[in-house]
Amino acid sequence: DPQGAIEQVGRLIRDIPDFPKPGIVFKDITPLLGDARGFRASIDLFAERLGGEPLDYVVGIESRGFIFGAALADRIGAGFIPVRKPGKLPAEVHRCEYQLEYGTDALEVHRDAFGAGARAVIIDDLLATGGTAHATGQLIRRLGGELVGYLFLIELTFLNGRRRLDNAPVTSLIRY
Ligand code: PRP
Ligand code: ADE
Repeated sequence: DPQGAIEQVGRLIRDIPDFPKPGIVFKDITPLLGDARGFRASIDLFAERLGGEPLDYVVGIESRGFIFGAALADRIGAGFIPVRKPGKLPAEVHRCEYQLEYGTDALEVHRDAFGAGARAVIIDDLLATGGTAHATGQLIRRLGGELVGYLFLIELTFLNGRRRLDNAPVTSLIRY
């Protein structure tokens, strides 16, 4: 049952205090990835939440979004598109810059990744402030894609990242 599966997945995420900096409690998903049944259960849950909605692409955010996104794309019969940190993609890209707590960061996608009207869902392991996912949503819009929703394994609700993602439904499996 979905609730049992969510609990099974939740038990495989561990807290690492003070990583990568003092005061941050890092949500480590590597125990989940290493557990064959748990990892599959997480992909089952994402696929269930999509509920058979027709999709052309799963868009995964570097780097942990690649792991879940590639498995989900295979499961639902969609293509996979990587959104990467600057300078990693070889062909022509669109770039989207966004604010961090201090300074800016950027993400890139190939300009020809998909055609106008393609239906895409964005996936990442974790929603924190929402800056990363919001920038990815902008990139999909610039490519002319139809953003069907955002999927996250984990949502840190106290950071209110969901508020910034007001252009498509947000689904998270586990909330803290
Ligand atoms: C983490 C996480 C999300 C992002 C969320 O990635 O995987 O992509 O931060 O933060 P936000 O909601 O505040 O934007 P990270 O920058 O650690 O990159 P990595 O996956 O390559 O380690
Ligand atoms: N990305 C942003 N905040 C994070 C956290 N607390 N754990 C894991 N990844 C993160």
